[in-house]
This record gives sequence, C-alpha cells and structure tokens, in this order.
Amino acid sequence: MARYILSIDQGTTSSRAILFDVAGKIVHTSAQEFEQIFPENGWVEHDPNAIWDTTLTVAKEVLCKVEAQDVVGMGITNQRETTLVWDKHTGEPIYNAIVWQDRRTADYCHRLKAQGVEETVTQKTGLVLDPYFSATKVRWILENVPDAREKATKGDLLFGTVDSFLLWRLTNGAVHATDATNASRTLLFNIHTQQWDSNLLSLFDIPESMLPEVKDCDSVFGEAHKDILGVSLPIAGIAGDQQAALIGQACFSPGMVKSTYGTGCFVIANTGDKAIASHNKLLTTVGYRIQGKTTYAIEGSIFMAGATMQWLRDGIGLIDHASESLAMAESVGAHQSVYLVPAFTGLGAPYWNPEARGALVGMTRDTGPKEIVTAGLQSVAYQTRDLLEAMAKDGLNEIKRIRVDGGMVVNDWAMQFLSDVLHVKVDRPVVTETTALGAAMLAGLALGVFDSLDELSELWAEEHEFEMTMPQAQSEQLYQGWVRAVKGVEFMAQ
Ligand code: G3P
Repeated sequence: MARYILSIDQGTTSSRAILFDVAGKIVHTSAQEFEQIFPENGWVEHDPNAIWDTTLTVAKEVLCKVEAQDVVGMGITNQRETTLVWDKHTGEPIYNAIVWQDRRTADYCHRLKAQGVEETVTQKTGLVLDPYFSATKVRWILENVPDAREKATKGDLLFGTVDSFLLWRLTNGAVHATDATNASRTLLFNIHTQQWDSNLLSLFDIPESMLPEVKDCDSVFGEAHKDILGVSLPIAGIAGDQQAALIGQACFSPGMVKSTYGTGCFVIANTGDKAIASHNKLLTTVGYRIQGKTTYAIEGSIFMAGATMQWLRDGIGLIDHASESLAMAESVGAHQSVYLVPAFTGLGAPYWNPEARGALVGMTRDTGPKEIVTAGLQSVAYQTRDLLEAMAKDGLNEIKRIRVDGGMVVNDWAMQFLSDVLHVKVDRPVVTETTALGAAMLAGLALGVFDSLDELSELWAEEHEFEMTMPQAQSEQLYQGWVRAVKGVEFMAQ
C-alpha cells in the first residue's frame, strides 16, 4: 500500500501543497499565488481569507489525486512572523495579516531602543528590536483597530502566526497552538525557558490570553476536519519555513548550514544545544524542538532574494520570466561594475536598517537590462556573504559548505557565483522543495513513519556540488564594491 504525507507550505507569495511519499519523493504538487497588498510606503499586508482559500484549494487539489486512506497525515510550514489577530467567536480576522516585511512599527522600535530595553529583549528572545517580528505588529493592531484593545482585554481575540491561523481553521476552531520555531520569532517567547515571557508581554502590552499554546515541532497538533479538508487528517508537524528547510536539508549536526532562496534569503547554522548570542546582529533562534529537545540555531535574514527577481520582472519589466536571468548573466559575466542594493523594505541582517531604501549604482552608458538583471542575481550572493562574514565574526567554526534550496537555486550561474563569492562549496539537493519536505518529515516523525533524525538524514541526496572557480582576489574585489554600495545606501538613510 502506498503511503503519503501532505505538506502545506504557506509562503509569502504563494500557498503550496506537496504530497510526498515516505521515501521523501514528491508525488503531486499544487501552488497558487495571491495578492500582495501595499497600503502605504513600507507596509505589506495579506488578506487572511486569501491565505486560507489558496491553502485549502491547493491542499484539496493534491489530496484528490490519491486514495484518502493512503495519506497518513499532514505537516504545515509557513512564512514566519506574519501576524494575524482574529475574533475567537466568529473566527474572522479583525485586520489583514501584517506581513513580516512590513515596516510600519519602525518608529515604535526606535522608541523602545531609546528606552534601553533592547539588550534584555535580545537576551531573552535572541532577536533584535526590528519591525520584522510579530510583537510590534500585534500591538499595532490592538492600538489601531477600533475596539481591538477592549476585546483583547476581555479575552475575545486570538493572535497567531500563519501556522496557528491555519491550524485553528483546519480544526474548526478546536486548537489554538503553534510550534516552538514559530513562537521563537514573535519577540514574546523566551528561547531559554521555552515559555511565553510575562515581562515581554507587558512591555508590548499584549494580553497572554491571546497567545497560542507552544508545542514541539513533531507534535500531533490536532485533526483537520473532514468537512473542511474533505478528509480527516492528523496535523502532526509544524515549523516555520526556514526551520523546516533546516530539517528538510537534514542539517542535524552543529556547524551544518543551509541557505534558502525564497522571497528573502535565510541562512541558518545549527548550533546544537547551545543558544549562541550573536555580537554581529544575527539572530539566535530555535532550530527545531523535537521530542522535547531544543536545538538552537543562528540565523541571518535578508528580505529580498527571489523578491528582487520578482521586482525585475513585475516592477520594471526587464524580464518576462526569472529563468531569462541565466542567459543574461552568462552574456554579461560576473565582472561588471553595476550593483543593485535591493533595500526596498529596508536592510535586514547584519545591518537592520528599516529606513534604508534600494539603489542601483555603478552604471555606465552601456548599462542595459542585462547588466541590471545580473546585478540582481549578484546582490543575492553578496548579501549571503555579508551573513557568512557575520557568522565568522561570531566565532562559528569556519563554514566550508552550505546546502541551498528555494526557487532561485535552479539558476546554475547564480549558484556558481554564490560559491565564488562565499569561497565555500555549495550543495544543491535533489529535492529543492526542502521547506515542504521538512514539514513532511516532522509529520512522519510524529506519526511513526520515521524513527529518528538519522533516518531523515538518509532521505537527503545531493544533485550538484558547486566549487569556487574564480580567483579569490577577483571575488574579493567584487565583494568590496558591494560593501561600498551598501555604505552609500546607509548614508542616504541617515
Ligand atoms: O521570516 C520570513 C520567512 O519565513 C519568509 O519566507 O519563503 O516566504 O520568503 P519566504
């Protein structure tokens, strides 16, 4: 009898459902994009019902391809930090989802920093005071939506990241929970005690009654309702998408590193049972919490990777499809003077500058679309290098190789350039849908399909290894140009 696991990957620009077999192979997939809402400069929202409808549609689409009794369960992975608040009686969100990229709480973060609280917040949460994380977004909703504060105080509102919202709806309002990785991105969760932190809740003025219960990633969270999904299925694995990718890439030993190129780029290094505090503005976070054991990680987050290609396509129309960038970059070559700093929604790690905005520098009279598109691809590699530099300064053992995944890694030119700029080997796995695979692995662990992390490691296989080919002096020269371009962007933001 065939056995499958459904994985839902609710991302920033699309909702996807992937059916895996128990050997970790993709059997069926379905994806749907949904609208990005930009109400004001630096604001980014999603319609919660668009998140829900697209998720349900893609899930049903893959489920109907196989016999219901052959699907053992499902896992959920999701865009992290994105914040939803809904009425616990009606189930209706009281405001759009405020997306992780949204910068509306930048002033509030500055005010908190001026009060000198950042050190304590970082010590407890591993995060920095930036609009990126959920807490200031929840507070914004409570302060700005009519009657929200009053309702929250009475216990009528619930907060959740996207996983929590989907879980609540799939279980028909029976379960309000999340996993430790998603909790660790809220600025409300103490990563050392693995508890919601009452001091942080009062700092951000958020009632505890709004918060979901925090569980291990490989928990049986609840049962998806037959009337909703068409079949009744145990929801048995949850992790934020970047942590799910860490699992899907089988980075289970300290020192192993993965880098995911989705909307943004997120480099995560496993640090084992130690929560290493960064002195270079990286984040300390929960890598995964499996069978009651917390594994920590250090993370560098960049806001614009695939989103840069999307901007080149939809924003200024230099390409019709991201795949065209490969031939363009091949014809331009790596040694060009144009730098695109894609700080459209500020700069993430290691700069954390919410006011910074994008720039294109180094153009000459013969600069055209090809050079700008190539600069877009290169910006992704340069930003990854910024993160590895910061990791090295934080004393992480020398990183010799990274495992890559996400939509952009199909681009051979970009992966070769990445290896050249980072001076490391770049491993591309057979299954590049590692985020979804990670959630399926968690569900499989919880349901006894898999027994151990070692068994999961055996599901990982390499498709291609990229090795540095460019002389180091040349790649250094290119990278120093990027460093100067970023300095210019920061100067403009002062
Ligand atoms: O922290 C934000 C991240 O989880 C979003 O991931 O894949 O939608 O870019 P992605």
